[in-house]
Amino acid sequence: MSTIILGIESSCDDTSAAVIKDGYLLSNVVASQAVHESYGGVVPELASRAHQQNIVPVVHEALKRAEVAKEELSAVAFTRGPGLMGSLLVGVSFAKGFARSLGVPMIDVNHLSGHVLAHFIKSKDSESKQPDFPFLCLLVSGGNSQIILVKAYNDMQILGQTIDDAAGEAIDKCSKVMGLGYPGGPIIDRLARQGNPKAFSFSKPHIPGLDYSFSGLKTSFLYSLRNWLQDDPDFIEHHKEDLAASLEATVVEILMDKLRKAVKQYNIKQVAVAGGVSANNGLRNAFYDHAKRFGWEVFIPKFGYTTDNAAMIAMAGYFKYQDKEFCPIEAPAYSRVTL
Ligand code: KG4
Repeated sequence: MSTIILGIESSCDDTSAAVIKDGYLLSNVVASQAVHESYGGVVPELASRAHQQNIVPVVHEALKRAEVAKEELSAVAFTRGPGLMGSLLVGVSFAKGFARSLGVPMIDVNHLSGHVLAHFIKSKDSESKQPDFPFLCLLVSGGNSQIILVKAYNDMQILGQTIDDAAGEAIDKCSKVMGLGYPGGPIIDRLARQGNPKAFSFSKPHIPGLDYSFSGLKTSFLYSLRNWLQDDPDFIEHHKEDLAASLEATVVEILMDKLRKAVKQYNIKQVAVAGGVSANNGLRNAFYDHAKRFGWEVFIPKFGYTTDNAAMIAMAGYFKYQDKEFCPIEAPAYSRVTL
């Protein structure tokens, strides 16, 4: 008999539902929330309200596209945390009610492990190679910058992580300082393609081990910009491509320096990247470059699985279903939880 998992993701500002059948993705619907754009960041209360409006149509559409009747579902998997509490509660409550009404088990998924396990999503119309355990995964998003040793789908060890800002957060804040739109990541990426990455230099952290730090870069960017603007009030307009390219290059350098160190230390050359910032072209290129230069086998997710999506939650749920790792109805949402 087939195993069909409905995944639900609502940890931040994307409402998403996906269906996976026997490990193959049948549908992945994402409703993004434009309401936050004018505020320059996610407004938690508005995100929660938008999830409430979106969740039913998004789940309906995911089942429709998958051509799966709700009665055929084996289980409902949902993001339990980390994330914004008001946002999480919508997905968690819906998933529990839906699973209970269908009489199927519910599976709680850690959002971060979902990002890592996105590398195992299979699709009927495209071949993708999957990493073998153990492998290293660089998880970079708006809230996290971590190097993870993935020993099994349910056994992940954080080897290093940011001690302050996440990489995505730093990029978004620098973009805000430049007066660009929100979220800054994709805008910086687009501008960087036309700029010179060596035009400007910003400070890089010197911290031991495999941990990251991005707050110094943010401050260095802000102070440098302030000085340049004193001489030329239109400095940003005149140099935005070079600023974006130099900022991106610094972030990528910081990320890859520690990743090379981890590869050496653990002697593992299968290296994956996950999370919203893994959509960044500079970072993707650095991975391909490292594969060539150092013989790494790299795993780079499809663009659709980089930012928040329910396909990765359904995939993680599929793994847990095999081991009958279900959760009780009283399982609360967690705004803060580690791997
Ligand atoms: O994983 P994600 O969707 O949400 C969480 O933070 O959990 O990641 C969002 C982050 C934002 O900081 C966004 O600016 C960044 O990913 N991002 C990018 C790109 N696309 C999204 N950063 C750099 N280049 C991109 N192309």
